Amino acid sequence: MDEKTQVATALQTALPDMSIEDIKNKLERPKTSKNGDYAFPTFFLAKELHKAPQMIAGELVEKIDQTGFEKVVAAGPYINFFLDKANVGAGILKEILADPEHYGDLDLGHQANVTIDMSSPNIAKPMSMGHLRSTVIGNAIANIMKKVNYNPIKIDHLGDWGTQFGKLMAAYEMWGDEEAVKADPINTLQKYYVKINTEADEHPEYAEAGREWFRKLEDGDEEAVRLWKWFRAESLKRFMKVYDMLDVQFDSYNGEAFYNDKMDEILQLLNDKHLLQKSRGAGIVDLSKYDLNPAMVQKSDGSTLYMTRDLATALFRKRMYGFEQSLYVVGAEQSYYFQQLKATLATMGFTWSKQIHHIPFGLMTLNGKKMSTRKGNVVQLEEVLDESIKLARQQIAEKNPNLANADQVAQEVGVGAIVFHDLKNERTNSINFKLEDAVKFEGETGPYVQYAHARAESLLRKAGNPDLAGADLKLNDEESWNIIKLLGQYQETIKRAAVKYDPSLIGKYALSLAKAFNQYYAHTRILVDDDQKLARLALVQAVSDVLKSALALLGVKAPDEM
Ligand code: ARG
Repeated sequence: MDEKTQVATALQTALPDMSIEDIKNKLERPKTSKNGDYAFPTFFLAKELHKAPQMIAGELVEKIDQTGFEKVVAAGPYINFFLDKANVGAGILKEILADPEHYGDLDLGHQANVTIDMSSPNIAKPMSMGHLRSTVIGNAIANIMKKVNYNPIKIDHLGDWGTQFGKLMAAYEMWGDEEAVKADPINTLQKYYVKINTEADEHPEYAEAGREWFRKLEDGDEEAVRLWKWFRAESLKRFMKVYDMLDVQFDSYNGEAFYNDKMDEILQLLNDKHLLQKSRGAGIVDLSKYDLNPAMVQKSDGSTLYMTRDLATALFRKRMYGFEQSLYVVGAEQSYYFQQLKATLATMGFTWSKQIHHIPFGLMTLNGKKMSTRKGNVVQLEEVLDESIKLARQQIAEKNPNLANADQVAQEVGVGAIVFHDLKNERTNSINFKLEDAVKFEGETGPYVQYAHARAESLLRKAGNPDLAGADLKLNDEESWNIIKLLGQYQETIKRAAVKYDPSLIGKYALSLAKAFNQYYAHTRILVDDDQKLARLALVQAVSDVLKSALALLGVKAPDEM
C-alpha cells in the first residue's frame, strides 16, 4: 500500500460515506514538514455537519486508528498525518534493494504496441539539432512507455524521398565530383544543395531541372535511382555514427521511400470516397469541417507529397502493428501539418486517427544561433557531440586525473550532458544551448546527476560493499527522510511522465534526488560505525539504483566512477 492510500484508509474508518479515491483527492501535501506528511482539510464537511471545521477535525481525529503513524493530530481545520517514517522508509529501501531494476515498474500498457516515429533525418543533409531532439525525446519516451509495460516500436522515418532529391541530383549533374562525395558525402552533398538553393533566385531553370530529376526518380530512371541509392547509403552510414554515440537503436528504418508503392491505395481510397478534389490540377482533400486548410495529396504533375507518404505510412503502421497509440516526435513547426494528417485520416473513416499523437518540441538554438539546413548555417550534431566529449574529458583530467577508463567515461558524460540538457526542459520550450553550461559538473546538468551516482558508488566501495539484505533499515532523521520521500515518489513520477509523454518530469526528478543526496552527503557522517550504518548504506545504495534507473529512462549512462 502506498502512503497516500494508507492515510486515506485510516481516514475512511472515520468517514465511512466517502470512498478511498474521494478522500485521496482531498488530501494535501503540507508545505512544511511541521504540519506532517499529509493534511486533510475539513472545510467541505462544515455545511453538511453544521459544525465549525476546527470542531470536525478534533472529533474525527478521535476516531482514527493511529497505528502505522508517528502521530495524527488536529491542527485548526486540518488533520495532519505524520507517517511512521522509520517503518515507511525501511519498506521503501527494502523494495528497491530487492529488485532495483524493476523498482517503479507499473502496468499501464498491458503490452499494447505504441509506434514512435522519431529522429527521421533527411538523407543527404547533416542531422540537425532538431533531429537530435526528436531522437533523444523519442528514445526517452520509448523507455518510459516500456517501464509502464507498453511495447514501444521505434521507427526512423528517414526523409529519403521528395522533390529535394531532384534538386540535389540537378546540382550533382552540374557540379558533382564523385571523388569529393566519396571522401565526405554529407558535407559535399550539402554544399551542392545549399549552392543550388542560394542560386535558385538568379537561375529559375534550376527549379525546373530539379523537378525533372525528381520525376525521373519517381519513374524509376536508372541513373536517378543509382544516385538516390548511393546518397541514401552514405547518409545512413553517417547517421548510424550518431545513433551509436547516443546508443539509440531502432526497430525500423522504413523511410518515406518505403511507401512509394503504397500511395496508390490511398489515392484510390480517397477517390472512391469522393474525397479527392481537383484544384488547379492538384489533388486536395477538403478539411473545412475541421477548420483546417485543404491537404494537398497530389501535385499538378502527378507527383506525390510528404502528406501522401504520411497517409500511407499511418495506414501501414496500423495494419502492421495494430498500435494502440501512434506517436510522432516532430518539431512544433509541423503541428498544423499533423492536424491536417489526422483530419484527413478521420475524413477517410479511420477512427483510429484518434490514436495518433503529435509530440511537438521547441526549437533548439546553439549560443543563440538558429539552425537551418537550406542555407547552410548549420551546427552539425557530430561536432557538438565531439566538442561535448572533449569538455567532459578536460573536467575529468582536472578532477580525477587517475581515472582508469577516462575516455569511456568522458564519452558517457559528454553525450549524457547533451541528452540530459535536452530532456530536463519541458518539451515545448525553446532551448538555447550553451555547451559549456550543459557539461558542467555543477548546476542542473546531466554530469551533476551522474556525479551524485558515482559518489554514491564510491561510498559503497569504500564501505567494502557490505551485504545489506538482512540489515535493519530503519532511519529516523529528517535528512534521510527527505531522500526516502523522493524515492517513494519515483513510480508516481514515471506514471505522470508516461501519460504526458514528458521525459522532463524524470529529468527534474533525477535532479531533485541528486540534490537531496548531495545535501545528505555533506551533512551526515555516513560511514561512522554505529547501529544505523548499514541502514545509511542501504539508503546510499537505493539512491544510486534509482538515479541509475532514472538516467537510463532518459537514455543517459551512469558511470560508477568519474
Ligand atoms: N524528415 C522530416 C523532417 O526532418 C521529419 C519526419 C517526421 N515523421 C513523419 N512521419 N512525418 O522534417
